[in-house]
Amino acid sequence: MKKAIVVDKDYGSVTIDDLNILKEKFKEESIELELKHFYSEDEIISECQEAEAILGTGNPPMSEKVISKLPNLKMIQRFGIGVNSINLSAATENHKIVSYMPGFCLDELAAHATSMILSLIRNTAYYDRRIRQGEWPKAEYYTPKSISEMTIGLYGFGGSAKELYKIFNGGFQSRVIACDPYVSEEIKEMFNIDFVDFHTMLKESDVVSLHAPLNTETRHIFNEEAFKKMKNDAMIINVARGPLIDEDALVDALKTREIRFAGLDVFENEPLDKKSKLRNMENVILTSHSAFYGEGSKQKQLKWAFELVSQVLNRNTIKKEFIANKEIFDTNIKMTFK
Ligand SMILES: NC(=O)c1ccc[n+]([C@@H]2O[C@H](COP(=O)([O-])OP(=O)(O)OC[C@H]3O[C@@H](n4cnc5c(N)ncnc54)[C@H](O)[C@@H]3O)[C@@H](O)[C@H]2O)c1
Repeated sequence: MKKAIVVDKDYGSVTIDDLNILKEKFKEESIELELKHFYSEDEIISECQEAEAILGTGNPPMSEKVISKLPNLKMIQRFGIGVNSINLSAATENHKIVSYMPGFCLDELAAHATSMILSLIRNTAYYDRRIRQGEWPKAEYYTPKSISEMTIGLYGFGGSAKELYKIFNGGFQSRVIACDPYVSEEIKEMFNIDFVDFHTMLKESDVVSLHAPLNTETRHIFNEEAFKKMKNDAMIINVARGPLIDEDALVDALKTREIRFAGLDVFENEPLDKKSKLRNMENVILTSHSAFYGEGSKQKQLKWAFELVSQVLNRNTIKKEFIANKEIFDTNIKMTFK
């Protein structure tokens, strides 16, 4: 039997029961799946010597030290999109495939952003909080804007932003604009969207929704200066990555009414500090990095994990789109990339 090990218990949408079903399926492929939780790099090194595949449901520390000391390892499989805890160049140098799941939760991210936008516009969370305190707040708080007259600004126009575009432009008939310097002219022509620069997106949007990755270019791009450019009654939605927003500047902007609302699923530090001022702000909705969570995303995670691991271990083949360390294509690794 070949050995594959889940090295962490940050299961997300996937439960221990799901993983036990996966375990049985892997047996049919002559792969023994072990479910473990290791706390340190050294533990992974000592306990995974036999492993041909390591599966990370969260973000296990797959550093150069770990990767270089696992001679039998063929692949590291992430149960999601972020590969920030895996040293990709060390993986390539050591001829290990790093596979991930781009696009596994696009519907969920767009639905989550939509739920926050609607809840903030329609004051739903506000009413709910008040009624539970024994009040009956009839038609109060901010007067809701008409959604069809709003402009939705998408920062990053990849998979999840395209789903949000469909909901707001196709459904509510809202105007949608986007800021994404990497979108090709061909893609731009396919959508009823004005592609604008960062400044214009901030200035014209009633809702700014974040869908870009975290990198040196995007870290703290939503800062004091950016909030000053936004409309005073605008909202910011973040289901992407916390550090895109300077959180202290956001708290100030909400307090001083530079902007009106925020819907946040991700934070600069997670879990969110118990003393964070955001916890006490009426004009803010908070969720706990759960935008990916859903039946559909879970089924994709389980299906793809099974297919990718069994294809690499038993058939030496994998689709290129699932590879995170694309430089591996230029090595002489014995693998067919389709
Ligand atoms: N909250 C959650 O549970 C959760 C789950 C999965 C993914 N995410 C995050 O959601 C985000 C969006 O996911 P996706 O699947 O839509 O990503 P995607 O890769 O499909 O799209 C990202 C888009 O951002 C654009 N981009 C890159 N740099 C940019 C920049 N400097 N300015 C503007 N645009 C830029 C890219 O061109 C691309 O079109 C990612 O940051 C991802 O990490 C969050």
